[in-house]
Amino acid sequence: MAERLRVLPTAEDVASDAAKLVAETIVSRRIVWTRLVLAGGSTPRRCYELLSEKRSLPWGSVSILFGDERCVPPTDTDSNYRMADETLLHRVHPGLVYRIPAELGADEAAKLYEPVVAMAPLDLVLLGIGPDGHTASLFPGHAVLNAPGLTAGVHDAPKPPPDRVTLTLRALRSARRVVILATGADKRDAVRKGLEGTVPAGMIAGAEWLVSRDAAPDAR
Ligand code: 6PG
Repeated sequence: MAERLRVLPTAEDVASDAAKLVAETIVSRRIVWTRLVLAGGSTPRRCYELLSEKRSLPWGSVSILFGDERCVPPTDTDSNYRMADETLLHRVHPGLVYRIPAELGADEAAKLYEPVVAMAPLDLVLLGIGPDGHTASLFPGHAVLNAPGLTAGVHDAPKPPPDRVTLTLRALRSARRVVILATGADKRDAVRKGLEGTVPAGMIAGAEWLVSRDAAPDAR
């Protein structure tokens, strides 16, 4: 597992490494669509800001999907789409943006988003991790971990808001590449458990970890 863990000095280093990795993926697949799945939460914000400066990338050949979404309007400050739009999407104008219509309700939106996920491989998935080891909206001990499809509605998420839509472990495990970003001492325990495979973020075989030193399990 250690070979998939990169520990970098600061959160800024994690953001810049992640942005570089996304850029390399887009360039390497220039002739066909790159399907990039964005993480929600606050950790990826800086990565998206740095990515938005890379205007020369062939953004027109990029499809954007989301790993999860809260059941709020896309204009809500809680919306993962809004965060990605503000920091990245409205600056680089990707060819296709598949927003999760979570404002329609968790189950309805999950049903609508399933064929979007199914239509082609996911080239690169960015994920965050919560202090409890959740990723996307896949929470420890939650029934959604056994969801059979590629998307699922979540109704009692321990992290507010309670209603969400998420890609499932099956969807995340199908991706060509998964990179989990973690920064901050509050994530150290979750990263340790993730590397041990005992929390949802650790249940995606082959996932790579980009972790700042303060979030690294052996950080003193
Ligand atoms: C969400 C995210 C969630 C997030 C983690 C980490 O919609 O809440 O998808 O999985 O990645 O909770 O959040 P922070 O990056 O804000 O710590």
